This record gives sequence, structure tokens and C-alpha cells, in this order.
Amino acid sequence: YPSSVLWNNYNIKGMTDEEYVWCIEQTIYWKDGQPLNMILDDGGDLTNMVHKKYPILLSGTGPNHHNLYKIMKNGELKIPAINVNDSVTKSKFDNLYGCNESLIDGIKQATDMMIAGKVAVVAGYGDVGKGCIQALRGFGARVIITPSMDPINALQAAMEGYEVTTMEEAFMEGNIFVTTTGCEDLLLGKHFEQMKDDSIVCNIGHFDCEIDMNWLNANSAKKINIKPQVDRYHMKSGRNIIVLAEGRLVNLGCAMGHLSFIMSNSFTNQVLAQIELWKNTSKYPLGLDEEVAAAHLDKLGVKLTKLSDKQAKYLGLNCEGPFKPDHYHY
Ligand SMILES: NC(=O)c1ccc[n+]([C@@H]2O[C@H](COP(=O)([O-])OP(=O)(O)OC[C@H]3O[C@@H](n4cnc5c(N)ncnc54)[C@H](O)[C@@H]3O)[C@@H](O)[C@H]2O)c1
Repeated sequence: YPSSVLWNNYNIKGMTDEEYVWCIEQTIYWKDGQPLNMILDDGGDLTNMVHKKYPILLSGTGPNHHNLYKIMKNGELKIPAINVNDSVTKSKFDNLYGCNESLIDGIKQATDMMIAGKVAVVAGYGDVGKGCIQALRGFGARVIITPSMDPINALQAAMEGYEVTTMEEAFMEGNIFVTTTGCEDLLLGKHFEQMKDDSIVCNIGHFDCEIDMNWLNANSAKKINIKPQVDRYHMKSGRNIIVLAEGRLVNLGCAMGHLSFIMSNSFTNQVLAQIELWKNTSKYPLGLDEEVAAAHLDKLGVKLTKLSDKQAKYLGLNCEGPFKPDHYHY
């Protein structure tokens, strides 16, 4: 198979839905006819396909994501699984620090645009949203956040000093729009029709459902491809909208995705999770997160303080960890 298929399905830029499904299907059987015996899945689509199309293979193990919870909630999950996204050293690092750098990389490579002084509207204030917002603010954008239904995220965002409101109030003010929610239908026709001229619209959340590209393709007067992954839609109002990466993940479409150091955290998690699954654990133990983080400290020249036996006893901990209870929120 092409190395890109084995490496990461999302890396083939501009692929059709059929090609995407084809790529996923290539990972089910090896060339010698042997089927998979574990699933390592980013997004849950392979897990879904195996459940629906290849249920005969489901006597082994598998992983990942919102999709996984849906399958589990419906009582349809037929294999033990670990959601690696739940591990602290994935979600609080890849999602936060990874997107923090790769969002800007994508916007800059696509548009060469000055961010300072612009108004950025960011939908979602989860881990990805927080990373993106910090980066946009760092470049001097005035950031408005639309965190939707979650009052905790809304309060957090307000106390960080951001303007927090609804998309309905924000969309006419923005110059740059970033969706980060994992939810569908964040930016719709009613928004595109009234956005400022040459607003930049992009998504770094779920694969391709946050921005209503069908509406844009059906209702704009003209679409001009500026360069690969950058399209300028001429609206009937006379204004234009610049869409990056066809509404798919801007950091993969317009840049190279996350940097290798952050991916090392995520991949270490995936490997440790697979070893745990092979040993039949169904929960990702917190100690593994500490192991992943510890493995990355030397590279950054970070030194750890050791707990003395007396201190450890006082805190009721083991000197070697885990250092936090399961319910601790980093
Ligand atoms: N592009 C990348 O490289 C990359 C990396 C990591 C994660 N992701 C994806 O980004 C998405 C978000 O991940 P996360 O870790 O931030 O998740 P999260 O759950 O921490 O945050 C998502 C936030 O979006 C909010 N939200 C949901 N629906 C909304 C709506 N309709 N309007 C406004 N806000 C809404 C939720 O309240 C939540 O706070 C996921 O789909 C994830 O797979 C992408």
C-alpha cells in the first residue's frame, strides 16, 4: 500500500469520501491475508467499519474517541477499548499545544495574513479551542469566543479576559473564524451571507462537519481556487469568503499538522495503551500518563523534584507515583 495509507489517512490532501473509506479499508487485512488483531484508530471510523462490515474480526481489542462512546452507549461495542484521547498527555498536550502552533502555521501558510489587530471568532473553548485562542491572542488578535452550551467553559473564557458570546452575535464582527468543537453545523449559510468581506473561515475540530461547505458550494455565486487548499467564494451579496482546507482540518490541509515533539506524546500513549489492552486492561491507568510525560522531560532539560518518604507519607502517596487521584483535572 502507499506509505501514506499506512501512516495516516488524513494526510492525503483533498481526498474524496470514497478514497477516505478505501484508505481505511486497506488497514483491515495485511498483504498476506492476515486480518488485524488490534485497532489503532484516530476518530473511530475504522472501529465503526469493523463493527459494521467485518464483525467476524471482533474477538480482539481496539481504541478511540467520541464515536467509541456512541458505540459503547448503544451497547454495540464488541471489544475492549481505551480512548487514548482521554489521557492527560494526549488531550492536554496534542489538542492544546499542538493546535496552538499548527493552527497559526496553517492560516499563515494559506493566507500570508497579518493576524495582529484582526478580530478572531473561535467556536468552542475545549482543549483545542484554548490552544487556538492563546495563539491568536499571542499574535495580537482580539478574540471572541462562542463556547455554546457549557457554562463552565463560558466562565473560564470570561475569566481569562475574553469576550464571550453567541455565534449569532459574533459572526458579523469577525475577520477570522475558527471552529474547534467536534460538533456539526457551527458555521452555516445564514452566517456566510453576512460575514465581512474576505473573512477567513477554517476548522480545526472534527474532520469536516463544522462548516456547512454544501451550502457554500450550492449558494455562492462563484468559487475561485486561489491555490491548493485555499478557495475564495464570491457571495451573491458581492462579498467574499476565504475558506481554508475545504472546511476540513486546517492544520493538516494547509500546514504539516502537529510538530513531532507533541506527536511523540500522543504516539507514546497509543503504544502504551495497546500494550495495556493486550494485557486486557480496559482503563487507561493514570500512572501511564506520568510515564509518558516523564519520558519527554529530558529533551526539554526539565528537572523533577523527588518527594521524600516523609512528604510522600504526609500526602498519602507512593514516592514513584501516581501523584494524582483519578478524578484530578489537569
Ligand atoms: N486538528 C487537530 O489536529 C486536532 C487535534 C486534537 C483534537 N481535534 C479535534 O478537535 C475537536 C475538539 O477537541 P477538544 O479536545 O477541544 O474537545 P473538548 O471536548 O475539550 O472541546 C470541545 C468544546 O466544544 C464545545 N462545543 C460543542 N458543541 C459546540 C457548539 N455547537 N458551539 C460551540 N461550542 C461547542 C464543547 O462545549 C467543548 O467545550 C474534536 O473533534 C477533536 O477530535 C483536532
